[in-house]
Amino acid sequence: MKEPPNSLSSPSHLCSLPCLHVNLCTRGGAFCMLLSLLLISFAFVAIDSRKENSVSWFSLDSPLVRESGGGVLLSKSYSIKQGEKNSTKEKFVELQRIEDSGELVINSSHGSSISLPPVAAPSTAPMPVPAQRFSSLMNDAILAKIRGSGGRDIKLEKIEYGLARGRAAIREAVQNKSYMPNLPDKDYVPIGPVYRNAYAFHRSYLEMEKIFKVYVYEEGEPPIFHDGPCRSIYSSEGRFIHSMESDSKLRTRDPELAHVYFLPFSVVKMVKLIYEPNSHDMEPLRRTVTDYINVIGRKYPYWNRSIGADHFMLSCHDWGPYVSSGHGHLFSNSIRVLCNANTSEGFNPSKDVSLPEINLKTDSIAGMVGGPSASHRPILAFFAGGDHGPIRPLLLKHWKNKDNDIHVNEYLPKGVSYYDMMRKSKYCICPSGYEVASPRIVEALYLECVPVTIGDNYVLPFSDVLNWKSFSVQVSKEDIPNLKSILMSISPRQYIRMQRRAKIAQRHFMVNSPPKRYDVFHMILHSIWLRRLNVQVHARA
Ligand SMILES: *[C@@H]1O[C@H](CO)[C@@H](O)[C@H](O)[C@H]1NC(C)=O
Ligand SMILES: *[C@@H]1O[C@H](CO)[C@@H](O)[C@H](O)[C@H]1NC(C)=O
Ligand SMILES: *[C@@H]1O[C@H](CO)[C@@H](O)[C@H](O)[C@H]1NC(C)=O
Repeated sequence: MKEPPNSLSSPSHLCSLPCLHVNLCTRGGAFCMLLSLLLISFAFVAIDSRKENSVSWFSLDSPLVRESGGGVLLSKSYSIKQGEKNSTKEKFVELQRIEDSGELVINSSHGSSISLPPVAAPSTAPMPVPAQRFSSLMNDAILAKIRGSGGRDIKLEKIEYGLARGRAAIREAVQNKSYMPNLPDKDYVPIGPVYRNAYAFHRSYLEMEKIFKVYVYEEGEPPIFHDGPCRSIYSSEGRFIHSMESDSKLRTRDPELAHVYFLPFSVVKMVKLIYEPNSHDMEPLRRTVTDYINVIGRKYPYWNRSIGADHFMLSCHDWGPYVSSGHGHLFSNSIRVLCNANTSEGFNPSKDVSLPEINLKTDSIAGMVGGPSASHRPILAFFAGGDHGPIRPLLLKHWKNKDNDIHVNEYLPKGVSYYDMMRKSKYCICPSGYEVASPRIVEALYLECVPVTIGDNYVLPFSDVLNWKSFSVQVSKEDIPNLKSILMSISPRQYIRMQRRAKIAQRHFMVNSPPKRYDVFHMILHSIWLRRLNVQVHARA
């Protein structure tokens, strides 16, 4: 296990005050729409040799959307039982993941028995009801059924009913996309091949804004809780925590109204404050997380009710996954939002969320965004970075000082700017380092350089929404020797299309304070929303 980068011990890279609120990067929706309209055809670059890791809500062949005899296709399931059984009162929670649909059904003895509106496939789905009619329909149809059947958790039923409605709306959008007019949106209308299904994504995003509520546990003291780094390669951790805590629309102060519960700890702060340097002992970090879950599990009914499945944690630190493994249910049930989204280390794309790694050196992304068109990019491909991890030695061995078109170096010569090199290059090579994620991917998108990702076991951020193949190139480790021929086989026209799309995708990685619609903060929440849709929590006696 490697030591955390030294830069982290320098306090200037961490801030204890909430990340500054500065408004940056406004990009007109009309402008992006125009760009998308300019995309005439969809150039598909079939270079990806990795298996498709993510289960998406946005494709017709996805098991989440596929229908089978009017119901959701459920072919295989298993259940986990936990808790003590004693003679007087049988108390257990049954957790059932329905593998083929990706849906997770949870039955808990801590509430009481309910029967939910079916989580229906499109043919049987209750048609989406306009928002204003929804509450009265809830009252008439659902609450009438609930009344008189004592002890039901009506609030949980309402929560689950809202989610069922969200699922039905997305499924309908996936199935009807060719018949539907664009949804109105004052800020942005996602269209074009950047998305797996632009229309369904838009529908899902709007449903999230209408329905989704996050409760942030208030327990815990800063800086380990309710705080995190706003700069450094781990900035995504602090930025999210601060934005979440100051968000007024998606955050609720009433835990009874929440769809998900956020455990607001920072692994980066723990490494700084609890970890004994060079001890290689992460137990104190794992214990901190376990103690926290025990505290909130005793104080509130929510953790036990779902055995953590409607709870989420977030970490950009390399050790995030290992720290999360300190608590079995956090690891296996909860939504883990991680930069280190390594599928070989238990990252599960239908449950966990891949968090973009964004290296912020200042409080804003000003100066990191924008770049010239293809004709002003004389270099074919560029990489500079340390020789570490499983991928980079191969890249350096094959390409360092080997070819005038492929600029691959460990260190840049004095006076050469890293960002300028990226701006001069058509393709920016983003190999995994020690860990799968690389801040280069977002840097490349910001600088409008087409990213070339190299690595195995990595689930790209927002890959259930974004069609990465339309604006980036994925190269497997084995194909590193063929890098040049792969890139040369992409025609100039195809390249121009990819670069335009990279510019469109940029919006979803923008860091704004306060956050703006469709930016990185909201995309992270949208990923969490989709994972929460995979889970159904039942309370029963
Ligand atoms: C969606 O499509 C189905 C058939 O494909 C149709 O029956 C249904 O009315 C459509 N829904 C809407 C809202 O257009
Ligand atoms: C949740 O379960 C734990 C362990 O079984 C127990 O100690 C705790 O009291 C329970 N919490 C609530 C709120 O019932
Ligand atoms: C991902 O996890 C596997 C298994 O632990 C490990 O061998 C690999 O080095 C990790 N990182 C990368 C970049 O693949």
